[in-house]
Amino acid sequence: MTTKETTHKHYLSLIAKIDEYDHQYYVLDNPLIPDSDYDAIVRKILEIEKLYPDIIPPNSPSQRVGGGLLSHFDSIAHNIPMLSLDNVFDDNELSNFNLRVIERLKLNENSDIEYTCEPKLDGLAISLRYENGLLAQALTRGDGEIGENVLNNVKTIRSIPLKIKEDNPPRTLEIRGEVFMPKKGFDWLNEKQINQGEKTFANPRNAAAGSLRQLNSTITATRPLAFYAYGLGVVEGIEPPRSYEKMITCLTKQGIPTCPLFKVVNGVNELKKYYKDILSIRDNLDYDIDGVVYKVNDYKLQHQLGFISRAPRWAIAHKFPAQEKSTIVENITIQVGRTGALTPVARLLPVKVGGVIVTNATLHNADELKRKDIRIGDTVIIRRAGDVIPEVINFIPEYRQKKSQPFTMPETCPICNSEVIKPKGEAITRCIAGLFCQAQRKQAIIHFVSRKAMDIDGLGTKIIEQLVDTKLIETPADLYQLSKDQLVNLDRMGVKSAENAILAIENSKKTTFAKLLFALGIREVGEIMAQTLAEYYKDFDALYSTAEEELERIDGIGPVMAAYIVKFFSEPHNLSVINTLLERGVSPKNKITVIQPNSYFLDKKTVVTGSLSIMTRDEAKAQLKQLGAKVQSSVSSKTDILIAGKKSGSKLKKAQELGIKILNEGEFISLAELV
Ligand code: IVH
Repeated sequence: MTTKETTHKHYLSLIAKIDEYDHQYYVLDNPLIPDSDYDAIVRKILEIEKLYPDIIPPNSPSQRVGGGLLSHFDSIAHNIPMLSLDNVFDDNELSNFNLRVIERLKLNENSDIEYTCEPKLDGLAISLRYENGLLAQALTRGDGEIGENVLNNVKTIRSIPLKIKEDNPPRTLEIRGEVFMPKKGFDWLNEKQINQGEKTFANPRNAAAGSLRQLNSTITATRPLAFYAYGLGVVEGIEPPRSYEKMITCLTKQGIPTCPLFKVVNGVNELKKYYKDILSIRDNLDYDIDGVVYKVNDYKLQHQLGFISRAPRWAIAHKFPAQEKSTIVENITIQVGRTGALTPVARLLPVKVGGVIVTNATLHNADELKRKDIRIGDTVIIRRAGDVIPEVINFIPEYRQKKSQPFTMPETCPICNSEVIKPKGEAITRCIAGLFCQAQRKQAIIHFVSRKAMDIDGLGTKIIEQLVDTKLIETPADLYQLSKDQLVNLDRMGVKSAENAILAIENSKKTTFAKLLFALGIREVGEIMAQTLAEYYKDFDALYSTAEEELERIDGIGPVMAAYIVKFFSEPHNLSVINTLLERGVSPKNKITVIQPNSYFLDKKTVVTGSLSIMTRDEAKAQLKQLGAKVQSSVSSKTDILIAGKKSGSKLKKAQELGIKILNEGEFISLAELV
């Protein structure tokens, strides 16, 4: 063999390796090698390509980037039109769909049809054409008859193979599916857009559409797009499968990404169950879905059912409640939070979004409000997804009133009239009055009584607002001097609830040092950091005399947090509140952690990341502390162990790169139980 032949063979084996690593990483979420090794292989491939540019095959990783700048996309007719789906919105409409299917197939009305179920992905349909196994064309849906060839852009989507895994690939294989942007990728992209002063995208669908229709594929290459297949177009040179399920299995085997939530069920009742199950996990999925799609599984039956106008009779989309709706901004008001942050809030004409009536939506901060230019009177799009507070996405320019004016943030605190500041480079405007501002005072007390803090049940927001407004309390310490009679006089308070509240206040006196520290509401100090501080410092005296340098030696404390902590304990007002709390009987105990002496985790620097299924991350951290581990918040070369749950992102990557021991939740639990 000549040198060129030997190099060529080696080169092709490197490309095959990259194909497999990409599949494992982007499709199966299972990174096989550290990023640095992967990069080294790609570099080697590029080196060889420089020497022998004539040998580059279309599936080389170099072909994924830089298809160059296009002036337009070619319009190409679909050989088989790309159709749409009919929708149903409730169980009744779904039952009617099922009855129509049964009737057309002339089956007994109690027959249980075999259906496939999968999420309805909120992205854009695409038709990928593989010729002799190589990706040769990628058409958008367009009007269903004619689409645009966005091949250069699609090639940058790493989960889409440039070559299908098959020694004897079919002559033509058109795979149809959805290109979408995962939520995490969307957040990352918008953050990047803001930092670079570029416009943000309203939602992941728009971001996916904008990225796919980019004329410069180098830009698309930076966009985190993904793809799931859900159908076929033209197929030549192989026997097509006999059912949708077989088709999905076959595509998955060929390395094509398909949705893992795909399921085959029997009968309409199981469809309803699937709908409920997926609706319940909708907000936890890493991609937006707007419903589920059911399809008759058997292709012969699909053929018998045929189409009506532009949609198949054998499939239906069962829509979820919309998470985005339009409404009118009736007013914009300013809320002042616990740390003095001024948050503009849009007061809305009530609208049902994601299943609940929404009347307010956050506009986040002055910078965000300026960027979005939302004004009173605007018609806006509201988004409410899961537990996330409703937010205003954008306004609809066509409906803007001519006389509308940009909203300006107030120059003083709307609650206490004190000065507000907006430090350079920061998005947030703050009232500087601290606890002298009634709003901050209320929020501080609301935080103080909350479950993870002093856990005082029976003192809701409305009660605390009244207590502060009537000057019955000024600081959290005043809670411990309240009498039952004072409470009974308040709105929404009966004798029984007043008694219970007094009892809850009394019971809260016995608490842990960590909870009390968290309850004080020191800026940046969350529940876990309060625990760390409580373990390190043991009591208030130790904290009073600490310095920033000492704090910064504790894992997880940086200069900003250290400065906040020192500042908090140097303010006479805070010291007086703490002293009064102690005088009035609050007696924090430092929780004594009995460390298991022969634990596997003893003295090991451990980080927990990703979502765990058997316990929460906080529970895992608490257990680790009990086992003598040093729980850290970020991975560094000093970390000994990473416990990685599902969807572990950058921490997992970093740990792999650093060669740190990685345990999954199951391994962690078994090692924890070995004690
Ligand atoms: S099947 C002939 N399956 O919904 C059937 N479509 O309203 C063609 N979509 O244009 C579509 N997820 O963009 C199908 N699992 C899924 C889907 C899905 C999302 C989109 C697709 C299509 C639109 C139809």
